[in-house]
Amino acid sequence: MKKTSLIIFENIGEMLTLAGSAAKHGRHIQEADLTIIKNAALVVENGRISWVGPRKKLPRSFARGGGKHVDLKGLTVVPGFVECHTHTVFAGNRAAEFEMRNNGVSYQEIAAKGGGILSTLQETRAASSGSLLASTKEKVQRFVNQGVTTLEVKSGYALNLKDELKILRALKKIQRPRIISTFLGAHAIPKEFNSESAYLKYLSDVVLPQVCKQGLAKRVDIFIEKGFFTQHFARDYLRKAQDLGLAVLIHADQLSLCGGADLAVEMAAISADHLIQITSSEIQKLAKSEVTCVLLPAADLYMKCSYPPARKLCDAGARVSLATDYNPGSSPTQDLSLVGLLARLEMKMTLPEVISAYTVAAAYALGVQSEVGSLEPGKFADFFVTKNDWRTLFYAVGERMASEVYLGGLLISSGAN
Ligand code: NIG
Ligand code: FE
Repeated sequence: MKKTSLIIFENIGEMLTLAGSAAKHGRHIQEADLTIIKNAALVVENGRISWVGPRKKLPRSFARGGGKHVDLKGLTVVPGFVECHTHTVFAGNRAAEFEMRNNGVSYQEIAAKGGGILSTLQETRAASSGSLLASTKEKVQRFVNQGVTTLEVKSGYALNLKDELKILRALKKIQRPRIISTFLGAHAIPKEFNSESAYLKYLSDVVLPQVCKQGLAKRVDIFIEKGFFTQHFARDYLRKAQDLGLAVLIHADQLSLCGGADLAVEMAAISADHLIQITSSEIQKLAKSEVTCVLLPAADLYMKCSYPPARKLCDAGARVSLATDYNPGSSPTQDLSLVGLLARLEMKMTLPEVISAYTVAAAYALGVQSEVGSLEPGKFADFFVTKNDWRTLFYAVGERMASEVYLGGLLISSGAN
């Protein structure tokens, strides 16, 4: 029989459990939903939380018994961040394009001339599995160092069978943090295909079955936008993905209102992401649905577009999450502090809403809300420790918020903050 590993974390000054937010499924968040315990202790057995509460109530069997005792020196404990929308696997960069966009050329104009996603595609196809894995590991560690314990990563910079599988296989090789892979073959139409329908047919007939068979992703994303994919063909494609048992999600209504959010609600998608152009009709539908709204303000900053109606979504009762959208084009930053700061400054989200968006709501966006997002018995012991007061989170841009990061109770990053 396997021996139980028992770790008792003690001397926690304040612990944000987010239990209240989890009980409310990440909606209508108030400060009380952070559910803060002062002078707390946390017991971890085999990577999962078995007890959490004030130190003085720690059961005797844990207080005096065996197991490893870790002194957290009166510091603050926060659930590990869940970064739920990234395009972390790519080769090269698009700094030259950034300069063009900054001089007035639009994202769509660049894309129509074969730049944008299609230029990253050439470099990513040409990269070897080894070099892609090495560069991805470095990028992933930058997320971990900021307190990220669950990370979503999309494919989508290869757009052919061989290299999309190469990307997804590289992701399988990364053990820490918890990685959730998403198949984004429908990111753009590669040059080999002359129509949207022909390319989507190739994806659903040839690529998706392999992705499923090889267990490389359980989620399928699509970019619905002028010049990319339409609501009409996306519906058919996503239905096929659902028939294969995959969860679906949509890059929706980012640059223009194209029916992405509506389709997400219609198809019970797990998330709808971007949502800049939505109107009150979509806001109401999203709020009533189980679709998590993933907002990506760093991309809006880089794209110089307006920000999504976060305040209206939150007030209507939608479940709102935040993420970096890290990619070489529209959001070349991995900085969670910037995302949270923009959400507060430009989207008028409160700090408790931002913290919940980056933990509980993001866990919903990935369908892992019963495993991560809050510090409660039965969930993974994924958390970070910070020397600062929680009120200083998402306040100073570029500040590393975590000093130590734990995954399943084991230290995976330390040294800063
Ligand atoms: O989420 N919108 C589509 N995909 C990315 C951009 C990808 C790129 O420009 O390389 C996004 O913003
Ligand atoms: Fe994206």
